[in-house]
Amino acid sequence: MSYPYQIKSLSEYQEAYKRSVQQPENFWADIANNFYWRRRWDKVLEWNFKEPKIEWFKGAKLNITENCLDRHLETLGNRPAIIWEPNDPEEYHRIITYKDLHLKVCQFANVLKNNGVKKGDRVCIYMGMIPELAISVLACARIGAIHSVIFGGFSAQSIADRLQDARAEYVITCDGAYRGQKDIPLKSVIDDALIACPFVKRVIVSTRTRTAVSMIKGRDVWWEDEIKKIETLGMKDCPAEEMDAEDPLFILYTSGSTGKPKGVVHTCGGYMVYTNYSFVNVFQYQPGDIHFCTADIGWITGHSYIVYGPLSAGATTLLFEGVPTWPDAGRFWQIVDKYSVNILYTAPTAIRSLMGFGLGPLQGKSLSSLKVLGTVGEPINEEAWHWYDEQVGKKKSPIVDTWWQTETGGILISNLAGVTPAKPAHATLPLPGVQPVLVDENGKEIEGNNVSGNLCIKFPWPGILRTTYGDHERCRTNYFATYENMYFTGDGALRDEDGNYRITGRVDDVLNVSGHRIGTAEVENAINMHAGVVESAVVGYPHDIKGQGIYAYVVYTGSHGGDEELARRDITATVSRIIGPIAKPDKIQFVTGLPKTRSGKIMRRILRKVAENELENLGDTSTLLDPSVVDEIKKGKL
Ligand code: PRX
Repeated sequence: MSYPYQIKSLSEYQEAYKRSVQQPENFWADIANNFYWRRRWDKVLEWNFKEPKIEWFKGAKLNITENCLDRHLETLGNRPAIIWEPNDPEEYHRIITYKDLHLKVCQFANVLKNNGVKKGDRVCIYMGMIPELAISVLACARIGAIHSVIFGGFSAQSIADRLQDARAEYVITCDGAYRGQKDIPLKSVIDDALIACPFVKRVIVSTRTRTAVSMIKGRDVWWEDEIKKIETLGMKDCPAEEMDAEDPLFILYTSGSTGKPKGVVHTCGGYMVYTNYSFVNVFQYQPGDIHFCTADIGWITGHSYIVYGPLSAGATTLLFEGVPTWPDAGRFWQIVDKYSVNILYTAPTAIRSLMGFGLGPLQGKSLSSLKVLGTVGEPINEEAWHWYDEQVGKKKSPIVDTWWQTETGGILISNLAGVTPAKPAHATLPLPGVQPVLVDENGKEIEGNNVSGNLCIKFPWPGILRTTYGDHERCRTNYFATYENMYFTGDGALRDEDGNYRITGRVDDVLNVSGHRIGTAEVENAINMHAGVVESAVVGYPHDIKGQGIYAYVVYTGSHGGDEELARRDITATVSRIIGPIAKPDKIQFVTGLPKTRSGKIMRRILRKVAENELENLGDTSTLLDPSVVDEIKKGKL
């Protein structure tokens, strides 16, 4: 496969950028022409950020799986589409060619149909990182069902909330999942979730750990049995459903600063074009390269850069079931050598955690196949950047620091590997088609360089979210109402003297813990569910490995027999049950009151400063209802 839209030099980047701003429609139409459409679009772009209404390639018909699978069959049919590396290095890996993947997706798409799934139905997928997860995602897309993947670290309660919000009547899961030494009983978590979701008609269970599961008659079926049925029925091929460019492709839930997670909706046409374009350009993918993105498919990174971006480009994508530190902290490096990985895309948290193991795990590893390194999900500190560059990339592999979000569908700000300059800890320049601006609190654009402000985007790109599922108004207020005619990212950023962006982190009440997005309000709600808790306030604090840790201040009246540790454990268990282990507080400080203004608003600024250990300069506390609580909070700092 060739990529005529792959940018090869800095001047080509500058030209492409200029054209993307001056003639966005022609620019994107030229790129979109490289895909397989059943019908061409009537109009490239129609938009306003007021409602918002954003439509790309309107009138076009396609199926994304024909672009990810069918169109490669003739030329790449016997090439590996997915390389699957199991959790346990002793277990045999799997290589799935484009032909195999096409067959498996068609088979499972028929299973879905045979179980009553129709175009537009929502299907929740809760699985470990096995090929069947990618197959499930693509099978949904094949028949036009809307997938909603839920990360395996979420609790039954979180799953139930999402199932209810999406009104998903179908679930695909596994008996269990392996992650390092752990064996996570996914089906049993689903069973707990479904107590609150009687509308779920069918659960399809794939076998992985063969742990004991309770299969409920009339509702639960085994994946393998269903495939056999399809074979008996003689159903082999599965023609792809014809989709409108603007039909939803998937929903992915993500946290905001208020309320429950929202279902970000991406659509078929624009998302396909944007993930492919950004994949090919940022990573400078060359035919035959092995691309290893270590994210989980439960997050947007896995959707865009394990599944849709690479497969639509005919690439070989590596799917890893396990964790970076098991059986030892050399696991990533061993995988890189085993498959001669060319592109490694991971999170700063993983890099920092591996740095902590020293150079031992790298000894005896060649890593000579690596050409491009990438990071995503959180700001990378310079120390980790240099370690990655020197110890992993041997100073010969460009690092791309890719900034983007669940809502953006694909990478918006990043250097292009080896093509545009990298700068440690900077995401650098916007991709063509992306028009970032920095604004002050009043929404006034801050022009020039060497400035900082809130990061907004003032023009749509094909991968932008279209709505939040079932609640368009929420989409408007969250992203398009803070500043007029702009998409507000929730991030703060600096722009240096050369126009490079450095993302400094969230400016709203959203935490980024190990690259996972968690709303402080969500954690507070979970803590407050505990019978002994009166109220709580949650803030982030700098954490050496996770980037940010969760610090909770809790007003507690429950009895714990004087054992504070026990109360902490109970609260932690509550959060784990309500949201999932990823949202467990790192520190819980018991307080008798929270610093509030006379109007009852919690002054988080003070709590943040204490958690960050900045005890001296707490700023103006004169508006507090009871300034004495601040002294107590300072004294009790953990
Ligand atoms: O704060 C930014 C941070 O992650 C947030 C988006 O989180 P999520 O939707 O879960 O998507 C993560 C993977 C795309 C952003 O608002 N973030 C993401 N990438 C970077 C980053 N912060 C700094 N540098 C990055 N490269």
